[in-house]
Amino acid sequence: MNVPIPDSVEHILLDEAMIQQRVQQLADLISTDYAGLRNEEFLIVGVLKGAFMFMADLTRRLTVPHQVDFIALSSYADATEATGSVRMIMDTRINVAGRHVLIVEDILDTGYTLSYLLRTFAARNPASLRTAVLLSKPERCKVKVTIDYLGFEIPDVWVVGYGLDFADRFRTLPYIGALKPSTYQG
Ligand code: XMP
Ligand code: MG
Repeated sequence: MNVPIPDSVEHILLDEAMIQQRVQQLADLISTDYAGLRNEEFLIVGVLKGAFMFMADLTRRLTVPHQVDFIALSSYADATEATGSVRMIMDTRINVAGRHVLIVEDILDTGYTLSYLLRTFAARNPASLRTAVLLSKPERCKVKVTIDYLGFEIPDVWVVGYGLDFADRFRTLPYIGALKPSTYQG
């Protein structure tokens, strides 16, 4: 696919082939680790909207039975600054109690979002709870959160595409690009 690169994108950080190769590796690991479970024992929860592409690509490469569900969060922060206050605006429809739950998130920045999610889901008595996260910015980390399946570590730049957005733009680019700082600073 040849999608033109928008002016606001400075450079491509991860192209389609790199992303798909890594997603396949993560899917293989997950398929091995969750082998033997029945469909209703393994629940994969995607965090909207950012994880929707990663979730779709990851789950269709799994060779083990699983169910999918989604949640949506709202942070009180605007633009690129995270404050640490997160709230759930859409919850799962499937009850997580007793199920092996894998949370699928787009990116770990400060870590506040994922630590909130882990606390929230742990309180619901899942059989187990793990996380799959496509990207992590280690330089930005404020709270330590365990990622069981990590795609890539990236530098402290704002990234868009493959589900990630800037003010709801660039979300459906097939690659992950670094946004020009002038786009969010000026
Ligand atoms: P925290 O700081 O809670 O943030 O770990 C995680 C959430 O912040 C958003 N985020 C980004 N979204 N490009 C994006 O499109 C980025 O570079 C970026 N960095 C953080 C994202 O919503 C994630 O769930
Ligand atoms: Mg977002």
